[in-house]
This record gives sequence, C-alpha cells and structure tokens, in this order.
Amino acid sequence: MKRVFSGVQPSGVIHLGNYFGALKRFVDFQDEHECFYCIVDYHAITVYQDPKELSRQIEDTALYFLAAGLDPQKVTLFVQSDVPCHAELGWMLQCIATFGELSRMTQFKEKSEGKETVSGGLFTYPALMAADILLYDTDYVPVGEDQKQHVELCRDLAERFNSRYGPTFKVPEPLIPEYGARIKSLQDPTKKMSKSDPNPLSYISLADSKDEVARKIRRAVTDSGREVVYRPDEKPALANLLSIYSLCVNKPISEIEEMYRGRGYADFKKDLADVIIQTLEPVQKRYSEYKQSGVLKDILSNGAKRANEVSSAVLKRAKEAMGLSTLIDPVKRTI
Ligand code: TYM
Repeated sequence: MKRVFSGVQPSGVIHLGNYFGALKRFVDFQDEHECFYCIVDYHAITVYQDPKELSRQIEDTALYFLAAGLDPQKVTLFVQSDVPCHAELGWMLQCIATFGELSRMTQFKEKSEGKETVSGGLFTYPALMAADILLYDTDYVPVGEDQKQHVELCRDLAERFNSRYGPTFKVPEPLIPEYGARIKSLQDPTKKMSKSDPNPLSYISLADSKDEVARKIRRAVTDSGREVVYRPDEKPALANLLSIYSLCVNKPISEIEEMYRGRGYADFKKDLADVIIQTLEPVQKRYSEYKQSGVLKDILSNGAKRANEVSSAVLKRAKEAMGLSTLIDPVKRTI
C-alpha cells in the first residue's frame, strides 16, 4: 500500500478551505492507502499561542479530522509533539537546508512581512515540515496550493540528503486537487481563506451556525454585474463562490452556471448558504458525537504509538547515514 502523510496546524479555526483543500480529501485515501495524519502543534508555536487555547485547539482539530469522516481504525491520527522523532529529524534537516532556500519561501515572506520580530522557528519551519513527511517513507502528500512550495523543498532536501549520505529517504509527491486547492477569502478574493485573518466574515468555520453561514454569504463580496458566470479574471469573487458551491454539491461549475442562468446574485447566494449548511451539518453532528464519546484520548494515544514505531525506524536510518550516535536506540529509546 502506498503511504500518505499530511498535517494541519491547530491554530485558529478550521475553515472551508482546510476542509476542501485537505480534510475531506484525507478521507478519500483511507481505504486504499496507509495514511498518517498529524496535528502539527510544533508548527503552531512558530507564532505565539496562548497555552490553554493551544491545547483546546489540538483537541478540536483532532475532532474535526474525525468529524470529516476519517476512520481511526483505518488511519493513524496523532499529535506531532507526542512523537519526538519529528523535532529530531527537523533539526537534522535544518542543517541540510540552506539560508537562501528558506528565505525564498513565500509563506515565510508573507507571515513575516511588516512584523517587528519573528521567531527563528517561523524561518526554519519548512525543514520541520520536511521531517514530518520523510519520517513515514511517504509516497503522497495531499495539500492545498499554498503548501506546494514546502513539499517541493522537502523533495529537494530528501534528494540532497540521499546524494550526500546514501539512499535514505523516499522522495514524496505533492497531490494538489484540481478544484478546492485555493479557496479565497469571502471579503477579498485576491487573498486565500485563512485561519489567521482577523475578520471572521472572510471565512466560514466548520463550527459556524446556520445563521452565521447565511450572514457571511450575504455579506460576501461579489463583482459588478448580475450574471452568475465563472470568469475568474473578470469576476474573481463570484468565481470563488461558484467553486465553493460546486465543491459542496459535487457538480461541475458549468452545471451551476446553467441553473442560475437568467437569475441574479441574490438567488444564487441564498442557495449557496443552504448548500454550505447542508455540507457542514453531518460534520458538526459527528464532531459533537466524537466530543461526547470521550474516545479521542485513546485514538490519539494509539496513533502516537504507531507513529513512533514507524518514524523511529526511519530516524535511526537517517542518524546512521549521517554518522550520528545511535547509542540510545531511537526505536527502543534505551541503551
Ligand atoms: P495549514 O494548517 O495552514 O492548512 C492545512 C491544510 O489546508 C490547506 N489550506 C487550504 N486549501 C484550500 N484553500 C485554502 N484557503 C486553504 N488554506 C489552507 C493547506 O494547504 C493544508 O493542506 N504547513 C502546513 C501543515 C503541515 C503539513 C506538514 C502539511 C505541517 N507539516 C506535512 C503536509 C505535510 C500548514 O500550515 O497547513
């Protein structure tokens, strides 16, 4: 079976972009692939997180993975900081990555722009992400468009390591969906829908109530004119709303344009709110069921155990290749 790895940060809300760009797709792999899905809390602390809020969000993010339809019997779901190999290989890969290539990461440029200070972790973050992926001999990495550059860096680091120290890592491939790879902000279609956007009107959270969804869609910006047509260059805001509609009902955009031919934006937006609400309903239901069931701790403990087994064998291989000490066996954690 081919291996799949992906991660989501437990910082801020989980929104429709995360759902269509990542979570919903994770479910599609679970029957025919061996899947490792990770709540990447070490990544979240590259910017300040309130400790109480962070631990609440770790739990919440894990619940949303399950609510999206992941079956804990089929996939390994775990929290990054429960598996020490991630931080260890992360350091080793920081020593392989160059200052120049880390400086070219667009996400670092965006997140550091205009800030008086940024953490060293924010800069070296892609090396940790590469470690996450390489520790599982991963074949495929399903992500949204914004993570493509990071996965490409991961491939470069794996190839560099292999050519310096001998074949050690499998070189993974990013899987970016044709649709849903970049859901835009509802307030500004030049920006992606983002957890860190201070304006809640810009995103639909998976936790939003029916009224909130309806209000956010009513207030979503549209373009001039009244025809419901998919023309991303001319009508980027409407094109985004059409993409969301199409993903919710799983129908091609052309069919939706046809449905609204001769009708205006108001009808379209009202129905869009309804299809989003219908998409969120089963997710919210499963979220509450999992939350009440109290099984999360066991699922994450089992996940961490399995992730530790697999990743420690790969870490041992990498340490040996580099000539580092393996007196403390990374698999057994004893001498
Ligand atoms: P994060 O937590 O920002 O986002 C989680 C996933 O959601 C996708 N995504 C989107 N997709 C479509 N439209 C959007 N507006 C949108 N916003 C986010 C992201 O592409 C991602 O797939 N660095 C990663 C987390 C990470 C990771 C990994 C991912 C750490 N280690 C290893 C894959 C493999 C991040 O910050 O994602």
